[in-house]
Amino acid sequence: MAWLAFMREVIRNNKTTGAIAPSSRELAEKIVQMADIRGKKMLVEFGAGDGVFTREIMRQKDPDAEFFSLEINPALAEACRKSCPGAAIITDSAENVRKHLRALGHERCDAIISGLPWSRFDDGLQDRILAATCDALAPGGMFLTFAYVMTPYLPAGKRFLRLRLPACFASVRRSGPVWNNVPPCHVYICTKEK
Ligand SMILES: C[S@@+](CC[C@H](N)C(=O)[O-])C[C@H]1O[C@@H](n2cnc3c(N)ncnc32)[C@H](O)[C@@H]1O
Repeated sequence: MAWLAFMREVIRNNKTTGAIAPSSRELAEKIVQMADIRGKKMLVEFGAGDGVFTREIMRQKDPDAEFFSLEINPALAEACRKSCPGAAIITDSAENVRKHLRALGHERCDAIISGLPWSRFDDGLQDRILAATCDALAPGGMFLTFAYVMTPYLPAGKRFLRLRLPACFASVRRSGPVWNNVPPCHVYICTKEK
C-alpha cells in the first residue's frame, strides 16, 4: 500500500521525505488546479511520494499531454508506480530534469509541480534544484510547490521564499493556507519570465 510505504520512508529517510504524513487530497486538488494544466503539453512532478499529486495530475491533464515524475527514493517510486498505473515515475533526482525532458525530445516543460521538502535541503542542494527547475521551464512556465505554515520561520524556508524564489522567477505568489492538510500549508505559485 502506497500510504504505508510512505510512512515507512518518513521514519527511515526523514531528511529527504521531509513530511509527517502524505499531503491531503484537498491540497493535491488545489495545487494542480492552480498550475492550470489544461492545454499544457509537457508536465513534470518532483517528489511523487505515495502519489497523491501524481494521481491528481493524471486526472486533470489533457489526454495527449506528456508527463513524468522524478522521485529519488526507489521504494517510493515503486509504490507510486503501483498506485498510479500509467504514470511515468522515474527514480532520479529533480536536479536531472533536463536530461529526462531531452530523452522525450523536449527542451523544456510547461509546468513543474513539486512536493520537495525545500526547507530540509542545505543551501547548495536548494540552489542546484532550483536552478535546474528554472532552466527546465519554458518562458512563462509555472512552478508550484507547497510549504508548511511554519516553514517561512525556519532559516532555509525563509531563504527559499524571500531570496531564492524571487531571484529565479518573474512572479512569486503565496496562496492559502490550506487548512485541511497535516500540517496546514501554503502553496507558492511562481512564473518564469516570458
Ligand atoms: C514531502 S514528500 C511529498 C510527497 C507527496 N508529493 C506528498 O505531497 O505527499 C517529499 C518527496 O520528495 C522526494 N524527494 C526528496 N528529494 C528529492 C529529489 N532531490 N528529487 C526527487 N525527489 C525527491 C522524497 O523522497 C519524498 O517522496
